[in-house]
Amino acid sequence: MTVIAVIGSQWGDEGKGKAVDFLAEHADYVARFNGGNNAGHTVINEFGTFKIHLVPSGIFAQNTTGLIGGGVVIDPQVLLEEIEMLNKAGVNVNGRLWISPRSHIIMPYHKILDGLYEEAKGAGATGTTRRGIGPVFADKVSYNGIRWTDFTSDMFEKRLEVQLNLKNKIIVALGGEALSYEGIRAEYRGYYAKLKPYIRELFSIVQDGLKAGKNFLLEQAMGTFLDTDWGTYPFVTASTTIPSAASAGLGIPPKYIANVVGVTKAYTTRVGAGPLPTEILDFDSDVYKKFGEVAATTGRVRRVGWLDLEIVRTAAELSGMTEICLTKLDVLSGLEEIQVCVGYKLNGKEVRYADVDAYGLDKVELVYRRVKGWNEDISRTRTFEGLPANAQNYVKMIEEAAGIPVKWIGVGPEREATIRR
Ligand code: GDP
Ligand code: IMO
Ligand code: MG
Repeated sequence: MTVIAVIGSQWGDEGKGKAVDFLAEHADYVARFNGGNNAGHTVINEFGTFKIHLVPSGIFAQNTTGLIGGGVVIDPQVLLEEIEMLNKAGVNVNGRLWISPRSHIIMPYHKILDGLYEEAKGAGATGTTRRGIGPVFADKVSYNGIRWTDFTSDMFEKRLEVQLNLKNKIIVALGGEALSYEGIRAEYRGYYAKLKPYIRELFSIVQDGLKAGKNFLLEQAMGTFLDTDWGTYPFVTASTTIPSAASAGLGIPPKYIANVVGVTKAYTTRVGAGPLPTEILDFDSDVYKKFGEVAATTGRVRRVGWLDLEIVRTAAELSGMTEICLTKLDVLSGLEEIQVCVGYKLNGKEVRYADVDAYGLDKVELVYRRVKGWNEDISRTRTFEGLPANAQNYVKMIEEAAGIPVKWIGVGPEREATIRR
């Protein structure tokens, strides 16, 4: 039995979807355990190109069963659309996708409140995906949430009535329009009727699987530095993203999570507000254009920066990463010189990421190393030895800084564009 957690070691969008898709080959179960449809995971394989928000990215592997744990928050409309999209692409999920009845449901008022809070904060806004993530998790921990299990009785109606009373007062006070009870009740009863065949308690599935020695692949959403506790608070997301979240969010004891693959982009990106120490702000520069990306969920332009080894090293320590899946090395091709941040200083003294808060990170002095780049197109290279010497050195530098091996190297977005070591 193996339990492998796949996590992002930066600010999300490291390429977790692609990594989970190719690692799922040997997985019996592939599970999401945190976040919601703020995630956008890109998968490119023989079935096509997909931007997946809720269904585990390993669902394409034929012998895999997908699990959506109780730690995930669900927008039912998005999930139903995703199931339909997969079925149309020939990936039948019926009988091989199970959703925890403990998972909390994103209601229309969560999305409205997400937007209203962002607008009220003005220049201090988080830059959320406006998918209702903060408000639904706030309701979860303040005992105001609605879960799938509530639909098995009239508890849904009772809880909705109370919540609408509360939420409408806030919405109206903030200049929004009150929501109608009956419309929402009917809409969500309709979603439940369609999703009911997929809703099933996961406790026995997980426990029996562990006893039977099955292989589990745990797919994190977001990245280490969007974690509520360890990220750049308040510029974070509303769920725990480090591997320990898989324990609560899926019901898997921590002792089983022995392998943690840290997906690491060869440079850095971030969507939304908050510090990005190595950010490149010269929008006309070639390197800015090279690193440029568009967000998979919101279509926003991702902010970009050089690789920050202090960030990767911290993620490796915090999450107990056992190996790295390096992505987008191909994008660095054609740069004469590459800059890499190897550490932070404050008032001339070395500091660690954890020593400064989100606002302090804007003030740290970055210690850069300049390394030689390479010109060759590496997108067809499939062996480490086949990489240009400077690309090999770049990989070795990351291994040395993080203290763990780089086991996979991405040289293109497609599943097969991967060097396995
Ligand atoms: P996730 O949220 O961590 O799954 O990452 P996203 O899918 O949001 O963003 C990663 C982007 O990089 C997507 O467009 C992927 O198709 C792409 N990608 C992943 N790995 C590689 C790689 O090795 N090379 C290139 N060129 N693109 C990659
Ligand atoms: P994947 O799984 C990148 C960011 C948002 C915002 C902050 C809070 O694709 O890597 P939220 O909507 O969660 O309340 O927004 O978190 N964010 C992500 N950034 N990738 C993601 O997911 C993200 N999910 C949330 O941009 O800054
Ligand atoms: Mg993404």
